[in-house]
Amino acid sequence: MSDLITVNMNKKPIYDICIESDFSGLAAKIKDLGFEGKKFMVITDSNVEPLYAETIKEELKDVCSAFFLYSFPAGESSKNLDTVTKILSEMVANKINRHDLVIALGGGVVGDTAGFCAAIYQRGIAVVQVPTTLLSQVDSSVGGKTGVDFDGYKNMVGAFKMPSLVYINTSTLNSLDSRQYYSGMAEVMKYGLIMDASFYEWILSNMYEIHDKKPEVLADMVKTSCICKQKIVERDPLENGDRALLNFGHTIGHAIEKYKNFELMHGECVALGCVAAAYISWQKGKLSKDEYYEIRDMFVPFNLPISIDDIDPDKVLELTKSDKKAIDKGIKFVLLKRVGKAYIDQNVTDEDMIGGIREIYFSEEDEKE
Ligand code: GLY
Repeated sequence: MSDLITVNMNKKPIYDICIESDFSGLAAKIKDLGFEGKKFMVITDSNVEPLYAETIKEELKDVCSAFFLYSFPAGESSKNLDTVTKILSEMVANKINRHDLVIALGGGVVGDTAGFCAAIYQRGIAVVQVPTTLLSQVDSSVGGKTGVDFDGYKNMVGAFKMPSLVYINTSTLNSLDSRQYYSGMAEVMKYGLIMDASFYEWILSNMYEIHDKKPEVLADMVKTSCICKQKIVERDPLENGDRALLNFGHTIGHAIEKYKNFELMHGECVALGCVAAAYISWQKGKLSKDEYYEIRDMFVPFNLPISIDDIDPDKVLELTKSDKKAIDKGIKFVLLKRVGKAYIDQNVTDEDMIGGIREIYFSEEDEKE
């Protein structure tokens, strides 16, 4: 199993996304890019280091002139400028120069943080993304968004930094715990909902194979997701328009993530945000009632939440306004016209949003009824 997707900008190929079932092709791809004999700075975290750092070193040690590894504590709380400073200091200490290579080995936090370091170190050095979670394989490693959280805002400080290569080894998905794995499914389902109705049907009809992590099905699912992302980022690399469609479920999702102090996984919050957004789409007359309920219930077999207790809907609404996207131009809310077709609505009111948040809020009163 081996697939290649080339991401183009202005009709020119910019980087490849390789979808493989092991790491054995990584060295050759890096050689092809011209990095043979350069210093490699691998950045990873405390979850991924014990699993794959040694294998990556074995695969790459004959290609580079020096191999350095920096690992930081896993988790969203590491996604900040302190970690960036530590990584940059390590790069200086290792005499990494502009022609060397950063390799981001891990999930979304590693990819975003290491990608940002590569974007700013000596005004930018090349980065290869090696995503190891479902979420990072289908979303964050593709498209060049990098950055860290700042001052209570998610991804507030960052840069667009296109990778030189995205190398996906789908067998790493076997090492994910169930919550991490299904968290990634929220982003997979998002593609079906916003832009590809046949992918949505495919996901439903391959539900059991997805549960069982059947290798061919995982490879197909990651590939179709990456093609969806490729299409959007090629059209709108810097998010001046359509790329914002990828934020479906994220306005309310990010607010819940913050409200819960990152105790829930990103994809769990995105699933809740997607349900709320689908509800608002129904209330605005875009989706039918049946379509709304079908979308809502589709998250259940993938162990994703469709309701949440222990939130204060008004506070969650307030938090939607402290999303960086809401700072200057107000909220660009992503709604659905139908399965497979999303649009940006700038007229979603606080009442609309609170309706969506209350829909997913499972209160003690609901329990008594
Ligand atoms: N994850 C959303 C984007 O890349 O635009």
